[in-house]
Amino acid sequence: MSEFVSSQQPFPAAEISSLPRAPQLAAARPPRVLAVANQKGGVGKTTTAINLGTALAAIGEDVLIIDLDPQGNASTGLGIDRKSRSRSTYDVLAGEIALRDAIVPTAVPRLSLAPSTLDLTGFELEIGQSHDRALRLRNALTPLNVSAPEQTHYAYVLIDCPPSLNLLTVNAMAAANAILVPLQCEFFALEGLSQLLKTVESVREQLNPGLTIHGIVLTMYDSRNNLAGQVVADVRQFMGSKVYDTIIPRNVRVSEAPSYGKPVLVYDLKCSGSEAYLRLATEIIQREKELRAA
Ligand SMILES: Nc1ncnc2c1ncn2[C@@H]1O[C@H](COP(=O)(O)OP(=O)(O)OP(=O)(O)O)[C@@H](O)[C@H]1O
Ligand SMILES: [Mg+2]
Repeated sequence: MSEFVSSQQPFPAAEISSLPRAPQLAAARPPRVLAVANQKGGVGKTTTAINLGTALAAIGEDVLIIDLDPQGNASTGLGIDRKSRSRSTYDVLAGEIALRDAIVPTAVPRLSLAPSTLDLTGFELEIGQSHDRALRLRNALTPLNVSAPEQTHYAYVLIDCPPSLNLLTVNAMAAANAILVPLQCEFFALEGLSQLLKTVESVREQLNPGLTIHGIVLTMYDSRNNLAGQVVADVRQFMGSKVYDTIIPRNVRVSEAPSYGKPVLVYDLKCSGSEAYLRLATEIIQREKELRAA
């Protein structure tokens, strides 16, 4: 017995402080996951994912864009050609690889991308019967919550959704903290919004209780068009404070940039589109601060 007690000598404090530190795991805040969604086509989802992501990265945040659209426009618009997409979001959702293994860097510092390919069109058919079909992306994102040495810890994950309320979009909504909805400033802007909100509601009830609408961003605003001002007023009346103050103007530089494989902020930092996306990023960071404080 006395032998046992004597073996319990306290470890000298001086030696403890000289031991190597354990790597810092799980120290950082989990990334904020925002799904950029609207089942209407051509409203500015991809443009917003690319340029908001670039603007957040320019402000100093580490950002991951997940291309969840088989069209792969976010991947092309960020200059990731098809040859560089040997591993894609399809492989991740199919459970063949980890999300980290699909991520590629972009030309923008602090901005990474998980690219997509046309394979994603087969997702619903191939995975649509499995019990966890709506949670594939959510499960794939979980490892990003742990920050490990040598791995980027993302502050924001932006998911570029396809123009449909299909299983891919439901996966995005189930994985997200919040939805960011681009609405084009045109006559039918609000058409389809109630259907989108209903889908958000049922995902919240059945899959993801914490899901919120982060905000609505009005896109392609043309001040020469008399109707555009009326559309802005209507959307603000209908959605109130959910509508961001920042409005993205229609700007030809924004539409030219993807053909060069560049975000507009890289293509022409001084144009009105770039300035608007920088303002939107600042507004989103501010909203995030307010949410955390609340
Ligand atoms: N602010 C803008 N000014 C001018 N053109 C724009 C602007 N925003 C987007 N566009 C152009 O409008 C078109 C549709 O935009 P985008 O591809 O971002 O929409 P989307 O909602 O992702 O489309 P889809 O539903 O097909 O995925 C593109 O050609 C894009 O370059
Ligand atoms: Mg798109």
